Amino acid sequence: MRLRNIPGADEAVENSPFCIPLVPEIKGNIRTQFPNPDAPIHMEIGMGKGQFIMELAKRNPNINYLGMERYSSVLLRALQKMDQLESPLPNLKFICDDAKLLPDFFQKGDIAKIYLNFSDPWPKDRHAKRRLTSRQFLDCYDHILADDGTIEFKTDNVDLFRFSLEEIEATKWILAASTFDLHHDSSMMEGNIMTEYEEKFSSLGNPICKLITYR
Ligand SMILES: C[S@@+](CC[C@H](N)C(=O)[O-])C[C@H]1O[C@@H](n2cnc3c(N)ncnc32)[C@H](O)[C@@H]1O
Repeated sequence: MRLRNIPGADEAVENSPFCIPLVPEIKGNIRTQFPNPDAPIHMEIGMGKGQFIMELAKRNPNINYLGMERYSSVLLRALQKMDQLESPLPNLKFICDDAKLLPDFFQKGDIAKIYLNFSDPWPKDRHAKRRLTSRQFLDCYDHILADDGTIEFKTDNVDLFRFSLEEIEATKWILAASTFDLHHDSSMMEGNIMTEYEEKFSSLGNPICKLITYR
């Protein structure tokens, strides 16, 4: 998702109380950014406008959530929604940066669960490393996830899904569950929260794929 560059978006993100800047001081201290520092942190990488992670944070006040989005013009939409909430979500914060920086600012064990939803497919072979489920990114996640941490990935892009299954197979990650038709899989659908892209693509009749993996 790449919205038109919105004037003022960078400043809005910089000044937002909902955003955490990636600065060296946060390494080892990410928990203290939340009112309840003892709660586990779950993270969505490539959160877009934030519908999914805001609903998760609403349903699970005892979990802290971090939404990561590379573009300030996209994240701005989530900040606007946060401003309009009747009940604030103290357990949700955002980071506006590239996921490839995660190992520089987070420690092993900081994150208990990672969500990747409808990640950009980067269809050209020479761009495979940029896919958020590439072995390079899986290695980044290994540097920040807890020992029993998991990754949940959803997409309607079957080529990207097959690539992701192959990357898991080729690395030390273990496939816990997978489906090529989430919306007709009652056990994997339990508690499912639709993302913006999931609503859009499933309404067009595209089956949604999902996998869960861990180390
Ligand atoms: C296709 S959108 C999906 C948005 C949302 N997750 C959903 O399912 O509706 C993918 C989002 O991931 C973001 N993204 C892609 N690569 C990223 C990266 N390396 N780090 C952070 N965000 C990234 C894009 O800017 C875009 O907003």
